[in-house]
Amino acid sequence: MGPTDLKIGVLGMGHVGLPTALGLAELGWEVRGADDDRAKVSMLQAGKATFYEPGLQDLLTKHLASGKFQVTADVSAAIRWASVLFVCVGTPQRENGEADVSQVEAVACQIARNLNGYKLVVEKSTVPVMTAQRIKRTVELYARQGVREEGDGERIPQGKSTAAIGFEVASNPEFLQEGKALQNFFAPDRIVCGVESQRAQEILQAIYEPLGRSLLITDLYTAEIIKHAANAFLATKISFINMVSDLCEAVGADIGQVARGVGLDPRIGPEFLRAGIGFGGYCLPKDLRAFLHLAQEHGVDFSLLKEVERINERRVELFLKKVRKALWVLGGKTLGVLGLAFKPSTDDIREAPSIEIITRLLQEGASLRLHDPRAMPNMQQFYPEETGKVVYCSTAYEAAQGAHALLLLTEWEEFLKLDWKRVWRQMEVPVLLDGRNLLDPRQMQECGFEYYSIGR
Ligand code: UGA
Repeated sequence: MGPTDLKIGVLGMGHVGLPTALGLAELGWEVRGADDDRAKVSMLQAGKATFYEPGLQDLLTKHLASGKFQVTADVSAAIRWASVLFVCVGTPQRENGEADVSQVEAVACQIARNLNGYKLVVEKSTVPVMTAQRIKRTVELYARQGVREEGDGERIPQGKSTAAIGFEVASNPEFLQEGKALQNFFAPDRIVCGVESQRAQEILQAIYEPLGRSLLITDLYTAEIIKHAANAFLATKISFINMVSDLCEAVGADIGQVARGVGLDPRIGPEFLRAGIGFGGYCLPKDLRAFLHLAQEHGVDFSLLKEVERINERRVELFLKKVRKALWVLGGKTLGVLGLAFKPSTDDIREAPSIEIITRLLQEGASLRLHDPRAMPNMQQFYPEETGKVVYCSTAYEAAQGAHALLLLTEWEEFLKLDWKRVWRQMEVPVLLDGRNLLDPRQMQECGFEYYSIGR
């Protein structure tokens, strides 16, 4: 197999797999996406993106038409077809914080049963350190028994060891941010590849060559640690600035300017210094816990990360305290909520601070009018309108109608463009609590709001 005749299979069509598959198709590679979720596959085959991500729908339409991207629910067939397999299945967390790698193991077994020639298996999902070694061992173990025929379970002796076939594992962690996934794919700040051979290195170099970036080549363990350490550090940065924001509030300083002043130091940098109601999403909270668990397992006292998590968990309580302080009693009040997604430009609500805030407000007897540009269908599954306690509103103005306070929980750019005077006119009481420091305090006060934000 030469680098030009690579066939790329992407296993798992979620938030990592789908943008990766379409990005690779855009680079000119022939890509097959596979997922055993038939409903998801049918939707993709019909040309409909399964979640919102800027630019994703257009690329899906383009590459289904060009034939560069095909998608199937027959994972085994995709494995047999491909020479390179990107593993993008989910790694949810167990109750103890440890990553649940059962989907990765299942894929490794499936690869073993369909090993019909050299394959480079590339782990892309965030996985605990040493997962690549486990994948390798699992494939070797299961493949030793020969290929099992579909259906009747008959074994067809393979006659070849995996070593003879030349099976290999590499680690190429993804650093995509939801809402910017394709932007990050085409302009990555680094491409980390943990490899065990020159051949694997050359294949990954060929795949990413059109991006014109050099690769950071490491061993497998190092690549796996880089991913976890990066997310844990980002989480630490956010918790740190959130604590500084509490101090700013206590002494009357401005966290926006403090973050700017601190971030101008190139050793610190300006990114991820936005104070607010804390970090959420599928990655930062989960990866932080998994990294902590990993450290504990290996006897390393990384209790710093425990504190990072604890600070983050307190953010919601502190915000609710502000709401109570502004409104006194919450029972029987109507509150408008702007922003449900865990961050802007996505419809994802997994571990979003909004979920905890909504739950607590409902427990205290408030009625809620919710609005988000993209995430309402996902939140409706959590909190259906039928409960009578929440109403979904198609505009921010509707959400503000008759409200005793308006809570801004996601910093969507759309909210900056609102006619805030009009918002103010809809409300029963003009209290505005901005959990993301999106708005300009003076402008909001001029509009007539009693305006609260974080650390300003
Ligand atoms: C994160 C990492 O940023 C990516 O590099 C990584 O690839 C990804 O996880 C992953 O492991 O797959 P993502 O979960 O999409 O990406 O979201 P972030 O942009 O990191 O934001 C996470 C949370 O932190 C959001 O709730 C956001 O509102 C919050 N945040 C972010 C702050 O509260 N303050 C900030 O300054 C920045």
